[in-house]
Amino acid sequence: MAAQVLDLDVDLVDPETFTREDLGAYWRRLRQEDPVHWHPAAPGRPGFWVISRYADLMTVYRDPARFTSEQGNVLVTLLAGEDSAGGKMCAVTDGARHREVRNLLLKSFSPRVLAPIADRVRRNTARRVARAVLLGECDFAAEVSEHIPMSTVSDLLGVPESDRAFLLDRSREALSSGAAGQSEEDGWSARSDILLYFADLMEQRRGSDAEDVISVLVNARINGVPLTREEIVLNCYSLILGGDETSRLTMNDAVHSLAGDREQWLALREGRVGTDSACEEALRWATPTMHFGRRATETVELHGKEIQAGDIVTVWHSSANRDETVFADPDRFDLARTPNRHVAFGYGPHFCLGAHLARVEITALLDALRRFTTSLEVAGEPARFHSNFLAGFSRLPVRFTRDKAELSAFAAELKADR
Ligand code: HEM
Repeated sequence: MAAQVLDLDVDLVDPETFTREDLGAYWRRLRQEDPVHWHPAAPGRPGFWVISRYADLMTVYRDPARFTSEQGNVLVTLLAGEDSAGGKMCAVTDGARHREVRNLLLKSFSPRVLAPIADRVRRNTARRVARAVLLGECDFAAEVSEHIPMSTVSDLLGVPESDRAFLLDRSREALSSGAAGQSEEDGWSARSDILLYFADLMEQRRGSDAEDVISVLVNARINGVPLTREEIVLNCYSLILGGDETSRLTMNDAVHSLAGDREQWLALREGRVGTDSACEEALRWATPTMHFGRRATETVELHGKEIQAGDIVTVWHSSANRDETVFADPDRFDLARTPNRHVAFGYGPHFCLGAHLARVEITALLDALRRFTTSLEVAGEPARFHSNFLAGFSRLPVRFTRDKAELSAFAAELKADR
């Protein structure tokens, strides 16, 4: 168990802070004493505001005119002073252009288009979890969760089966920020491989009336004008950025939390809590994106502090999701929690486009776990993700006990489907 931090002098930029320390007491103190906290500048980087209360996070999120995403929406880009995708990629675009591009993307996220994708997620997840349980012991992150979100995102984009291993490999390389043995150049080269790949696929989809994201974006017109090539490839890439690691980390965290809490596991296994409510608590508990951020466009006063135009404002989901004024007994993992209005998916105009799909993935995981395993335990030292943005486990050794009857029934179902 990491040491509790009470000092307010915490470096929220250093990824080590999040692996080394339990920040629960720090966030509690900020919420109570300094809800609009100034994180001081350090050599080579500016200072920034730290918003820790749930209500204040909403104030920032619902006001893109005064708190813009266009110069970055996470610390790494905000501190660098710009995001090269600003004004082109939905997540870092505001105003009318954001609404127009988001509305186009929404066509591929409609319940009708998503229904077959959601079905595949459920089948794929059941198969992967059943296989992991049959192995008895495995790294859950590598055996199960690594495969599900990328396959979902590939379905959304209409990536052919034959290219999926390539895409998984390149995105693993592009996103394994700061991992041992990973250089900046490796990351850049993997990212440009992915963008070139999407540019290629884009040309193949011209004139197609398919409803995958690439076809929709390449054949769309906004006020009679097509999207630029850059807008199309960046918005395709944004689904990998937004939809892969976030879901994976939530799945890993759900397994880790269930393995560590027998009472909650039994409530799920025995059907005393539903997977829908369990999914929401898994999301709140994991909070895989610890923060997002904005840049103030004008002077704004909040709790007596003056946020100046141009200041960086970070909002911390990891704190808001434990805000005692919103969640009763916030530090208790309670799968039956209702209401559970967590902000794991953000809030306001940039609210996560993939929220429904992520919920399908997590619910499918919980369903499969409670069906195929009678108990689960952590079987070795997990490895934590190294980041100031994403939280969770990159390796998670788990030992499962099989539910033999359910596994045999599932094997028979698979055989009948063939
Ligand atoms: C936006 C979290 C899964 C695609 C966001 C935002 C959050 C978030 C907090 C708001 C960012 C901001 O306000 O600056 C999560 C979490 C997920 C998840 C916790 C899983 C547990 C997904 C999936 C996809 C996706 C599966 C796509 C397949 C996006 C996109 C945006 C977004 C495109 C930008 C929306 C906009 O700017 O209008 N996500 N996400 N996310 N997410 Fe997710």
